[in-house]
Amino acid sequence: MKIVLCTSGATRARYESAFSRALPEAKIRWRDAADDSIHPAAEAADVAIVWKPPAALFAEQPSLRAVFNLGAGVDILLGLPTLPAELPLFRLEDAGMAQPMARYALAAVLRHELRFDTYASDQAQLRWSPAVPRNPAIMQVGVLGLGAIGRVVAATLAAAGYAVRAYSRSPRELAGVSCYSGENLDEFLSGLDSLVCVLPLTPATTGLLDRRRLSLLAHGAHLVNLGRGAHVVETDLIELIDSGHLSGATLDVFRVEPLPLSHPFWQRPQILITPHVSGLTQVDDAVRQVADKLRAFWRGEAVSGRVDRERGY
Ligand code: OXD
Repeated sequence: MKIVLCTSGATRARYESAFSRALPEAKIRWRDAADDSIHPAAEAADVAIVWKPPAALFAEQPSLRAVFNLGAGVDILLGLPTLPAELPLFRLEDAGMAQPMARYALAAVLRHELRFDTYASDQAQLRWSPAVPRNPAIMQVGVLGLGAIGRVVAATLAAAGYAVRAYSRSPRELAGVSCYSGENLDEFLSGLDSLVCVLPLTPATTGLLDRRRLSLLAHGAHLVNLGRGAHVVETDLIELIDSGHLSGATLDVFRVEPLPLSHPFWQRPQILITPHVSGLTQVDDAVRQVADKLRAFWRGEAVSGRVDRERGY
């Protein structure tokens, strides 16, 4: 089996050695994901393992039988004009990312509960102004997205004592969590004190968190975005923070990354910015999962995590 491994130069060594150990039977050739020029003489591979590949990869690899994505989100991959329509794509399912993302979400919700966000701005203004912490038992916390990651996030928040609701496209159930789906998005959002977004980015979820929907959250609510920057209409979020309807946001993802220095988010003390670190790919877990899926695919077995192109994830 011939594999083209397409990642950034920074991750090359770790992935190359981990995949060589996990798939000793395969011939693995690394290709730089930052290089968008087509190399027509590139050796033809059977399978691609990728993270943020350039469009050129699919132009120079006409014999691929499958693509394995080294992340949960496939929005970038699906946006490539050269990606063949019928080529099977597989994404990571949890692969060690759900726990750190759940802990990140919990930290952001706790920070809001304990008013650490308010005290950070009080400190910047040399202000001593004690306030009663929010009561976790009556804090309504919503998790938008209930896939492999959303389930762990929602269960972690529920175990911490919050009143948790979760929303998914199709009906799902999770013990200790009030589940909403389909048409009930507005009902789900209404009155939430904290909203955690872990949705995949698809045409249906792009710009979902706009002024109208964010206005349904409780007065003083806090948004936590771990999905993709494009879920949020950024100007609407800024307006709702400036007007005081939202008390702030914890954002790990942005429409443009790295977040440009001129971006107004940097100027809002109510927004905590982190550089897309909530769910860093865990190399060993990811490699193990991809190797297992790839072998099963090669044997002609059913493989979970196959991307439904129409749904977008
Ligand atoms: C992912 C990510 O999609 O790291 O896995 O953003």
